Amino acid sequence: MLGTSIFALLASLPFTVYGAWIPQRRATVCNGQAALCSRSYGNVTVAGSHDSYAISGDPFALARNQEISITSQLNLGVRMLQAQAHLRNNVIHFCHTSERSFLLFDGGPVVDYLTEVKTWLDANPNEVVTFLFTNPEGLSISSVWAPAFASSGIDQLAYVPPHVPMKRTEWPTLGSMIDSGKRVVVFLDSGADGSVDYILPEFEMIWEPPFDSTDSTFPCSVDRTAGPLATGDHMYLLNHFLDVNLLGTGILISDPAAAPTTNGVNSILANTAGCQPLGGGLNPTFVLMDFVNLGNGIGAVNKLNGF
Ligand SMILES: *[C@@H]1O[C@H](CO)[C@@H](O)[C@H](O)[C@H]1NC(C)=O
Repeated sequence: MLGTSIFALLASLPFTVYGAWIPQRRATVCNGQAALCSRSYGNVTVAGSHDSYAISGDPFALARNQEISITSQLNLGVRMLQAQAHLRNNVIHFCHTSERSFLLFDGGPVVDYLTEVKTWLDANPNEVVTFLFTNPEGLSISSVWAPAFASSGIDQLAYVPPHVPMKRTEWPTLGSMIDSGKRVVVFLDSGADGSVDYILPEFEMIWEPPFDSTDSTFPCSVDRTAGPLATGDHMYLLNHFLDVNLLGTGILISDPAAAPTTNGVNSILANTAGCQPLGGGLNPTFVLMDFVNLGNGIGAVNKLNGF
């Protein structure tokens, strides 16, 4: 009793006076679960939001992929945010497809998006969030991408690995990432050239099965990856979003009507089972979904984490 109160007293004293004696703050709950604090980043399965910025509640907005805001996605339990960037009037925006297509969906400037996430992270200090951004125009890492991160302040939270690529088993625990304050992981699908230390080359560390599947059984194969690490030393991501061929035009759009089933526990576990033989018998680290608020993707991910 006495011991406890002395420690409580010490812990409440100003850092500048007793800082050297007081142990670092230790997170006891990580991404909502105590058991995840001691698990390596690569050994935790997280729910991801595909085209997370393409948000609309209007069923006639055919190019939408999500129905709820970024903040609501995070509140729901999403811990990977995926998005695609293009320049519009010289400003980097998250948006998809080409300028004049009716499938254009402009989610606004990247800096606004990152600022929203930064606000959420500040209010939720025990959470690790991963970005998976795509860079189809090959925009400059140092002069286009990095300034958006810096303006939002989120670069201060970005994790810099000791070396690249990192094997799946080499990642720190969620607890140590949270304790160090470096709890944002940033992957880019192409162009990550090492010029900015926290912008990491996705395929050197993550492999993916095909995306835009129109087959609800999600046949698994290693579709995109990169060396030098062996496939088994990569984490893997399920592209668990189902498209439909729009009126036979060959244009693929995401299908909200199927989402409750697609994002159900059974469908996600079946997709996992299909990929596991290629993933060393392990679960995926990331499960990317459209319409994250439909179905029970969070329930599936909890199951994959053993809860
Ligand atoms: C984490 O490790 C456990 C035990 O080895 C394994 O069953 C599970 O698939 C792993 N999950 C991930 C995402 O690596």
